[in-house]
Amino acid sequence: MDHALHPDAAGHTAPTTGVDNETISCQLAHRTIRSFTGDPVGEDVMDTLLDVARHAPTSSFYQQMTIVRVKDPDIRHEVFLSSGQPYVDGTRGELLVFVVDLHRNARIREAAGVDLEPLGRTALFLEGVEDTLLAAQNTVIAAESLGLGTVYLGSIGGDPRRVIRALRLPRHTYPLVGLLVGHPDQDPQFKPRLPATFTTAVDTYPELDDPAVDLADYDRVVQTYYDLRDANRRIDSFTHQICTKPGAGRAEMAPVLDILREQGLALD
Ligand SMILES: Cc1cc2nc3c(=O)[nH]c(=O)nc-3n(C[C@H](O)[C@H](O)[C@H](O)COP(=O)(O)O)c2cc1C
Repeated sequence: MDHALHPDAAGHTAPTTGVDNETISCQLAHRTIRSFTGDPVGEDVMDTLLDVARHAPTSSFYQQMTIVRVKDPDIRHEVFLSSGQPYVDGTRGELLVFVVDLHRNARIREAAGVDLEPLGRTALFLEGVEDTLLAAQNTVIAAESLGLGTVYLGSIGGDPRRVIRALRLPRHTYPLVGLLVGHPDQDPQFKPRLPATFTTAVDTYPELDDPAVDLADYDRVVQTYYDLRDANRRIDSFTHQICTKPGAGRAEMAPVLDILREQGLALD
């Protein structure tokens, strides 16, 4: 089912779909927020968000994730130095770091005298990644349902060793993604997604003949989006972004496999 677009109260266009309820409206109204007011997020809200996070589904019931809430300004500064993104520094928004965590289960196995070899397998690491991202996205949906804004921070992977040191992450863990949660201080546009015909299919993979032709309409739509990060300028077309951006950011240049192996993860 494709999504229609219609203007919301703020003049932006929120996607709509055939069946609606509060949860679905909230999910379709998702926008990343990168600027927060100085208003604190209540402790009761933080408790709830962390509770929602840990109730996400977990692959094989291994529960291979841990969330570190960063309160210490010095530690937050270290995470900022790894990220390089200005909104990570300072005090606005609560900073959560979602950690792939096989350490706890390593401790359990060690205590029982069971070998750790399976925990070094890539498949187990991927299960941890799955758990960690599901917990993060549960948090995002809950936060947005409460009128809060969030920004994921893959950028904390600019210098993962720095984050590992700052958070004192033990062997068999990896800081996968950060998340800022706070009261929105901006009202961005909805960022248009690829049409459903490209990203959903029935039975077999969807055909794509000539990307330049097939995606021309979508490219035009994407160029009507203003990115608040960059002095309100329109963004490049999707196909241009795909040709220029992957591999260029610091987090995408980090020696991830080396660091995973230093952490005893993804060894095979
Ligand atoms: C795993 C993940 C990591 C991300 N990392 C960052 C980041 O480091 N910095 C940032 O500003 N946005 C980050 N984002 C947000 C994306 O840029 C954003 O979701 C995308 O541009 C679509 O915009 P929207 O969320 O407003 O619809 C990340 C998103 C995901 C899912």
